[in-house]
Amino acid sequence: MNVQIAPSILSADFAALGDAIAAVERGGADLIHVDVMDGHFVPNITIGPAVVRSLKRVARLPLDVHLMITDPDRYLEAFADAGAAMISVHVEVLPHLHRTVHAIRALGVSPGVVLNPSTPVMAIEHVAEAVDFVLVMSVNPGFGGQAFIPRSESKVREVRAALDRAGNRKAPVEIDGGIDISNAPRVVAAGARILVAGSAVFHSSDPERATRELKAAAVRALPTSTPAAR
Ligand code: DX5
Ligand code: ZN
Repeated sequence: MNVQIAPSILSADFAALGDAIAAVERGGADLIHVDVMDGHFVPNITIGPAVVRSLKRVARLPLDVHLMITDPDRYLEAFADAGAAMISVHVEVLPHLHRTVHAIRALGVSPGVVLNPSTPVMAIEHVAEAVDFVLVMSVNPGFGGQAFIPRSESKVREVRAALDRAGNRKAPVEIDGGIDISNAPRVVAAGARILVAGSAVFHSSDPERATRELKAAAVRALPTSTPAAR
């Protein structure tokens, strides 16, 4: 399994999202991470399906839609129709997580589940075999530009182990929050294979170059022995 970079457009200029996406695509990004916030689950409000639909028209890369909303079930179809390739939902708001994961897949979208920093890994134990990826939050969700929580590194290892125990070796661990060129190698060494980065990319003077450098740092940290490499 290679390592993928998913720039989060939350930190980009919302009046020029097309340009932001084009820049990171030139820089070798693998996914476009889209942060959806409702002002209830998190204290911030961002974008909805209409904007995702417009992004889909200009993006060549798959859209990785991270739903930070209290009632994701209600909006799955809208985001799938809008063009999401991946949808991740927070375990903290879903009493019927297993059903939600299958509902996302039934819409033809890749399902992922997300853990807040305070949520134990056991919360995903019983859906680990059914998901396409698990997202570990390394900040408390709501805003870009927060500091990486160091404990997240061991949490990535625990989630990786849980997926492996469930026989889901192909499902990558994604990490989101405070990722930059200095901690990227550590989280890759811990087992993360999708790295979300907002401010490290879009608050730099050259997002294309920042993407390229982040990816190079992440790839260098991959284990070299191929059979075990993922
Ligand atoms: C935080 C979002 C992140 C955010 C990351 O709630 O889920 O995707 O954009 O931004 P940085 O990389 O600046 O922490
Ligand atoms: Zn996110």
